[in-house]
Amino acid sequence: MSQTEAAATHAKAPNDLESLWLPFTPNRHFKRDPRLVARAKDMHYFKPDGTPVLDGTAGLWCANAGHCRDKIVSAIQAQAAELDFAPSFQFSHPKAFEVANQLVAMTPEGLDYAFFCNSGSEAADTALKMAIAYHRANGEASRTRLIGRERGYHGVGFGGISVGGMSPNRKFYGSLLPGVDHLPHTYNRAEQAFTRGEPEWGAHLADELQRLVDLHDASTIAAVIVEPMAGSTGALPPPQGYLKRLRELCDKHGILLIFDEVITGFGRLGHATAAERFGVTPDIMTFAKGVTSAAVPMGGAMVGRHVYEAFQSGPDHMIDLFHGYTYSGHPLAMAAALATFELYREEGLFEQARANEAAFADAAFTLKGHPLVLDIRTIGMVAAFDLAPVEGLMGKRGYDAMCNAFHEQNIMVRVSGDTIAFSPPLIIEEAQMGELFERFKKALDAVA
Ligand SMILES: Cc1ncc(COP(=O)(O)O)c(C=O)c1O
Repeated sequence: MSQTEAAATHAKAPNDLESLWLPFTPNRHFKRDPRLVARAKDMHYFKPDGTPVLDGTAGLWCANAGHCRDKIVSAIQAQAAELDFAPSFQFSHPKAFEVANQLVAMTPEGLDYAFFCNSGSEAADTALKMAIAYHRANGEASRTRLIGRERGYHGVGFGGISVGGMSPNRKFYGSLLPGVDHLPHTYNRAEQAFTRGEPEWGAHLADELQRLVDLHDASTIAAVIVEPMAGSTGALPPPQGYLKRLRELCDKHGILLIFDEVITGFGRLGHATAAERFGVTPDIMTFAKGVTSAAVPMGGAMVGRHVYEAFQSGPDHMIDLFHGYTYSGHPLAMAAALATFELYREEGLFEQARANEAAFADAAFTLKGHPLVLDIRTIGMVAAFDLAPVEGLMGKRGYDAMCNAFHEQNIMVRVSGDTIAFSPPLIIEEAQMGELFERFKKALDAVA
């Protein structure tokens, strides 16, 4: 980088960090020792001083095609000049339909309609509201109960945290939604430690849904929502056969199955969706993040024809679903999504992720045996490491490892408690996989 370029990026560093309250961040510590990036390209971020940082997390599980890809950048630039905004209540614009059509083609048969919002949290709340309203529209208004799962993450809306299963995200916010219950999570270290892909143990945990049906009665249950692979609580691949059993039980009892594919969609597990990988199709599927490779905020829900059609019985002039967002189908998001889909197709990025799965897992498993590493889980382009906690200070080891990784090793990783997760852009090359985990090992050595 030339001196002028370095000076230009340096100028982007803010000189007073106090006013901004960062989400999911210990703000006091961050402001004493900030982790700032000023630009990005492909597999790298760049610190304000120009130092490249290898991106081990695709930003936040989202920049699946890599950063600042020319095709996406140009599409957004052109769109901003052509149509900045179009309302999506009662009006729309052609690209929104184009994105919906392509999404229907990319997702498994049985998901026939797309609804747009702006984030994964909105997508989760959209799906939950649709499920309750669907049953009411079908004359089953008593089906209002929502079933989530322990260790689930569905964003930060009241619906999402109510069905979610991460206690720090729930305990501060009062009584949450009424009428929610939870399946047990699927992780058991004694049975599953150091598994690649779907663990053999744990399909029986889906039968807990039958217990909840026996307890509450199916006539009170609207939907079950799960992440096909729980992401935010440390990447927990589903046990073999687990999702199929959930699907069977939902069918048996007339319960809608919602897959939250905000993380697993768009190639993360080597397929367009986790539903495709695991051969199980939900009634509603949420998505966000990779849909635009994170270049413009966007989320949404794919739904089956039966769901959409349940809302189509009113008078012609009547709104069918009383739900939506000012920025549903925003032109910049639509342009970014279309360009992103083109990149995914042209570069075969989902296939590449599938082909790279074994090499990525091999690189991750080189850390097996490190004294701090209690477990490694891998699936698709995901790897998670459970670290031995610092006694009495839950989350400190993970936090210190993430800080050291950024400041000293120049890699970006995702921390969740004492778990560190990797989910790099799908364009990662094999040499970069080795580099990523070698540098991560140095970070672990430094915080041991
Ligand atoms: C499965 C899942 N659902 C929902 C969300 C929330 O997405 P957002 O942060 O865009 O609201 C996330 C975010 O990581 C997620 O992993």
